[in-house]
Amino acid sequence: MRLSNLSLVLAIAATAVAQTPQPKMGAPVHGLTAPQLARFNAGKVDFSHVFQVSQGLGPIFNQTSCGSCHNHPVGGAGGQFVTRFGFTDGKGNFDPMAALGGSLLQAQAINPACQEVVPAGANTTAMRVTPSALGMGLVEAIPDAVIAARETSPPSANVSGRAHLVTPLETPTGPLRVGRFGWKSQVATTLTFSGDAAQNELGFSNRLVPFDNAPNGNAALLATWDTVPDPEDGPDGAGLHFIDRITDFQRYLAAPPQTPRSGMTGEAIFNSVGCADCHVASYTTSNDPALEPALRNKQIKPYSDFLVHDMGTAADFIEHPPVTGGELRTPSLWGVRTRDPLWHDGRIVGGTLSSRILGPTGVIFQHAAFGSESAASAAAFNALSSTDKNKVVAFLDSLGRAEFDWDGNNTLDLADLNAFRVNMGGPYTTDSPQAVFDINQDGYVNLTDLNAFALVYEGDCNGNNVNDLAEVLSGAAGDGNQNFVPDECEFCQTNLGFAGAGTLSLSMCGDDLTTANSRGTLQIRNGPANGFLLIAIGFGSNPQLVTATEYLVPLVPLAALVDYFTLDANGSFRITIQGGGNLPVNSWVFQAATFTGVAFDLSNALSVSVGGF
Ligand code: HEC
Ligand code: HEC
Repeated sequence: MRLSNLSLVLAIAATAVAQTPQPKMGAPVHGLTAPQLARFNAGKVDFSHVFQVSQGLGPIFNQTSCGSCHNHPVGGAGGQFVTRFGFTDGKGNFDPMAALGGSLLQAQAINPACQEVVPAGANTTAMRVTPSALGMGLVEAIPDAVIAARETSPPSANVSGRAHLVTPLETPTGPLRVGRFGWKSQVATTLTFSGDAAQNELGFSNRLVPFDNAPNGNAALLATWDTVPDPEDGPDGAGLHFIDRITDFQRYLAAPPQTPRSGMTGEAIFNSVGCADCHVASYTTSNDPALEPALRNKQIKPYSDFLVHDMGTAADFIEHPPVTGGELRTPSLWGVRTRDPLWHDGRIVGGTLSSRILGPTGVIFQHAAFGSESAASAAAFNALSSTDKNKVVAFLDSLGRAEFDWDGNNTLDLADLNAFRVNMGGPYTTDSPQAVFDINQDGYVNLTDLNAFALVYEGDCNGNNVNDLAEVLSGAAGDGNQNFVPDECEFCQTNLGFAGAGTLSLSMCGDDLTTANSRGTLQIRNGPANGFLLIAIGFGSNPQLVTATEYLVPLVPLAALVDYFTLDANGSFRITIQGGGNLPVNSWVFQAATFTGVAFDLSNALSVSVGGF
């Protein structure tokens, strides 16, 4: 057995400056002040708040909380649908049947007596699937003129997107704004969507929409069942309304990450076949001093022009004047890797991302629809080799992937850390799967990247609220076997007990020490600060009472008295041990003791297996 100190390598790792990883999906933007972060968190609670009838839910509604639809992750996209209906006459004119509760159907009611139905006269219905609110504050901060400019100077002759000019609910007399939210770009600001969705989806009237919906337009039914006075929303203890709280949450939601951040071949192909004519990669948010610094003058990559385009026969046929039944907004593609179902009505559902894009009724097929502005782009895509098509899918799979998230489950856990270790090295290209680990994009997965990983790693095997990787790299946790997992969470040698009356404790964990080059950490805890320590190794194991309370394992014959050590200021001591090799004996007993100058304190004893042959 060899006691050696391997902390040098880790010390080098800890000195490299770590690049800041992007927030993962559902996390807040970087750079919020503490009060802003508190508002994000409070808003998140409200976003998931399940409304009761007594709080103003209904009388007709679609769901009981925002988060029940925007749930992948909270604030993101979801698989829930809502139904739009209306009447389209022989000339193609669309009537939203507002007098009968159109065009949005509320699918639930607080009592069957006021349940809405699609009216018998409706001949057009369309499903709408739940889009994502991630990155909303950043999209809101794109200057109107930047979006509108692509209407006046389209990027190619194939596309003719239109900006949807709308009046925000909070500024009814203010200037028209360029819409960007909703499948028809029918909303320009987060606050408007909050007020609109609170009333339409939850039946929660508020200062922007201060009345409830009449079931199928029936005012008498509304009067009977709407028992909470309007507006149902109002100031809380801090003077903020529900719609302000959820606006905070949505505005501070970070944009979904993109990993690798740039340079995939698939993106160049995406551009070359004209996808980027509508799915415009990047913007810089407004430098308006009224904006929070966390949202101001930031580069974002939503992959959308936020304009509405004629999608031909793949459209929804629901008019939202002046947007026609054929037009739909280009959805942002950030986060698209986990979005399922896809398309405004969720017609592309299930399977893999690859099948949702390339499948027989997938995204490319829909873009090729008769009369669609995207047909030329779809045709160019279809002419690609299957290798190139797969590269575009690989690029789309990078949209929403967090750095270091090898298995892509939006959790940075042990599976990802183990994959990191196995894939250390290089050189790798931006198209290599290993690029998810190469945060500084230098072609190598190495300790510099690992330091960045430690900023966001989520594993906490010892339950001390500090992420394990950070603990290992800082030296706060022993990692003798250098697998970046605290040894104390791995195999531990058998604790024989027999501890004395004091608090001194001994553990030896890591590898099981019976294989060549196996390593672990011998750890002493809870001794006197800066006290003397001695460690004894022997073969016996029967405890003998040495004082009224303390047992000593007879270390006879005493194999080694492993020197005298000094405990640190926390009363701890740690050393790396190495097992395996050609040791003759495979079961040893370890015990430690401290001496205060007056009395000994004995630790528990360990039965330690090493060698084993
Ligand atoms: C029943 C499911 C459901 C509930 C509940 C719901 N939403 Fe939505 N949300 C949708 C659907 C469907 C759309 C697309 C609407 C459209 O454009 O026609 C949407 C769109 C949005 C958008 C636009 C995102 C974008 O970029 O296009 C925002 C923001 C939003 N909802 C916020 C909220 C808030 C806030 C609440 C709670 C007050 C809420 N939603 C409740 C289903 C829901
Ligand atoms: C003319 C503009 C335009 C072009 C060009 C275009 N798209 Fe789209 N894309 C749209 C619109 C609009 C939608 C939404 C249609 C709908 O849901 O009805 C969409 C939807 C998508 C979606 C589904 C997003 C979601 O959340 O449902 C993906 C993925 C996508 N496009 C990828 C591509 C790719 C890849 C290309 C190039 C082959 C491309 N697009 C070319 C406008 C365009």
